Amino acid sequence: MEELIKRYEYEVVANDFDIAGSASSAIKRNLKSIGVDPGIVRKVAIVSYEAEINIIIHSKGGVMCLEIYRDRLTIRAHDNGPGIMNIELAMSEGFSTATNEAREFGFGAGMGLPNMKKYSDNFNITSSSDGTKIDIDIYMD
Ligand SMILES: Nc1ncnc2c1ncn2[C@@H]1O[C@H](COP(=O)(O)OP(=O)(O)OP(=O)(O)O)[C@@H](O)[C@H]1O
Ligand SMILES: [Mg+2]
Repeated sequence: MEELIKRYEYEVVANDFDIAGSASSAIKRNLKSIGVDPGIVRKVAIVSYEAEINIIIHSKGGVMCLEIYRDRLTIRAHDNGPGIMNIELAMSEGFSTATNEAREFGFGAGMGLPNMKKYSDNFNITSSSDGTKIDIDIYMD
C-alpha cells in the first residue's frame, strides 16, 4: 500500500446552505498552498464541490476527506444516509430529486454525479440506507 502523505477531514452538515462549499474551498486552498498543478486543483475543486453540495442537499450529513499520496489525490465523500436507491439512474445526466429550496440556490440540474465521474481518474460509488460513499482518485502524473 502506498504511503499516505497527508489527510484532511471536514464535517459537512445537512441543509446548511450558509456554509455550502466551505469544505471544498478548504481542499482547494490546501492544494494551492502546497503547489499542486492548477489543472489538477481545478479538477479536485469541481469534484469536491459537487460531492459536498450533494451531502448538504440530499443527505443527513457526512464527511469529506482529502488524502494526499505521492502520485495521486483521493477525495472521499461519505454520508449517513438515506442512500441512493438506483445509482445508475442517479448517475444519468439530468436526473434530480432536488427540493424546491435547493433549486432556489441554483442546484438540481442533475449534473453533479456525471461531472464528478467525468473529472475523476477513478470514480467509485456505493450506497445503502446507511449512507453513500464516493471515493475519487485524481492522478498527479
Ligand atoms: N449523497 C447523496 N445521498 C442521497 N442521494 C443522492 C446523493 N447524491 C446524489 N443523490 C441523488 O442523485 C441525484 C443526482 O445527483 P446529481 O448530483 O447528479 O444532481 P443534483 O444534485 O440533483 O443536481 P446538481 O448536482 O446538478 O445541482 C440527486 O438528485 C439525488 O436524488
Ligand atoms: Mg448534485
